Amino acid sequence: MNRIVTLTAALGAGVLSQAVAAAPALPHLVRQDGRHALIVDGEPFLILGAQCNNSSAWPATLPQVWPAMEALNANTLEIPIYWEQFEPEPEQYDTTVVDAIVTGARDRGLRLVLLWFATWKNGSNHYMPSWMKLQPAKYPNMLGPDGQEIDSPSPHAAATLQADTRAFSAFMRHLREVDPQHTVIMVQVQNEPGSWGAVRDHSPAAQALFESAVPDEALAAMDRAEQAGRNWMEVFGRDADEFFQVWHVARYIGQVAAAGKAVYPLPLVVNASIRDPIDPGWPPRYQVGGPNDNVFELWKAAAPDVDVLAPDIYLGDSAKYLEVLELYSRPDNPLFVPETIGFGAFTRFLFEALGHGAIGYAPFGMDDTRGRSGPWGTLTTEAFYADTALNYRLLRPMAREIARWGFENRLQAAVQMSADPEAERGDSVDRVNYVTDQTLHFSDWDADVPFGTFRRLARGETQPESPDGRVLIAELGPDEFVLAGYHSRVMFRPTGARAGRPWQYLRVEEGRFEDGTFERTRILNGDQTDWGLSFNTPNVLRVRLYTR
Ligand code: DGJ
Repeated sequence: MNRIVTLTAALGAGVLSQAVAAAPALPHLVRQDGRHALIVDGEPFLILGAQCNNSSAWPATLPQVWPAMEALNANTLEIPIYWEQFEPEPEQYDTTVVDAIVTGARDRGLRLVLLWFATWKNGSNHYMPSWMKLQPAKYPNMLGPDGQEIDSPSPHAAATLQADTRAFSAFMRHLREVDPQHTVIMVQVQNEPGSWGAVRDHSPAAQALFESAVPDEALAAMDRAEQAGRNWMEVFGRDADEFFQVWHVARYIGQVAAAGKAVYPLPLVVNASIRDPIDPGWPPRYQVGGPNDNVFELWKAAAPDVDVLAPDIYLGDSAKYLEVLELYSRPDNPLFVPETIGFGAFTRFLFEALGHGAIGYAPFGMDDTRGRSGPWGTLTTEAFYADTALNYRLLRPMAREIARWGFENRLQAAVQMSADPEAERGDSVDRVNYVTDQTLHFSDWDADVPFGTFRRLARGETQPESPDGRVLIAELGPDEFVLAGYHSRVMFRPTGARAGRPWQYLRVEEGRFEDGTFERTRILNGDQTDWGLSFNTPNVLRVRLYTR
């Protein structure tokens, strides 16, 4: 059963408190008017997270993980649990590592999203225990169209499914026993499941299934009920191989998830190695089997115990990044970004995720093991952490408010966009031309947002391109807003019946949230407001406006 609780009553603070009061202490998801919240300790919680490197979840390397979380000011660590470590011999479970992780996080006031690296890790079976790897006939990989073995486990292997289900249930049972405090708030089942190298399994058993009638649930999910009795190729044509693989991967993971949830019903997530959201092309250009944007309906039908289908976003192109956020924030799916790039201008996209009502966000590879690869492998640790730390220092004191505002649909964000997406690449954000202005539309006001720093330029000096501008605006009530921003400026103007009327700030307060209340440090006025509200440095403002 899907654990997302649907609230049918109208939006309002009272509704949320009723929902929360009735809810169990266990972390869970609630849904209302197509919006989502992750409830932790009885209140909406925002995951300002970070994921460690793949091989960092060992007692030997945890000392290089905890300081990173502190440097980042993250509230949640995403960290793997390795099947090969957890079940070194059949049905003998070694809980020492998971215990070290849970205790270490709890001692530091951190929450955890544990990542079950099991049948699939990036499409392969590399985290299966050795005793399974040594029995490839019992725990087989997929076969390609020419009968060649593919480096990806078959989703049709009953023995593998049984072994994973048993181990995941044991793992969840252990969590239930050792974590009454709910340090662990969510579990990811597998990691980027699906296959590279072949679109589907061509083993004789899989081939027979492929040539059989499409299951009724899959037909219903894809609105093809009238094609009952026809096989995958007859129903789906060019999409047949892909949809067949997706259905069977999702069914497999759905069964693992259901078994774990029956033992301990934490929210469950599955992450996707996403396809290009604007120009996807066809497989095998992208990984097939995971929750890509074109197969949401199959995933939701085949794996109803998976609460969140989540995109791993390694895109630098701003239009594509925003499109992914749009595609994964749906009334039937909470937006959660479990992996992304956590340094430099990439970090501005956190704000856009929050503007879409995200329940959480976590950059990947954030620890001190120097396990980084790719263009960011050469960055110093300090440079690597700086931008995510800036975001989290700014937003973490108001994380609960942001989670609630997102749930209540009060948030909008603007981030600096590329004018030339083709030129924008992961490692060359400085070379791109950026569009400077955006306008956000609230109930009675528009907010024009230019980006960059706002200051007098010296003679001959030009404003450097600053591609990391970002602002998050919460509409608290009529004429009242909270703004958090960096490298941006905000200028309001009245709209609707009051359009064109003279207006002014009633009050602009600078400050920060502490324990749910806004603590003012000073009132801004004069030069600090006459030219708009400037976020040259990271800042939080509470603003009241009025028309004359
Ligand atoms: C996405 C995967 O989900 C991560 O575990 C990791 O392998 C990154 N890619 C790349 O470093």
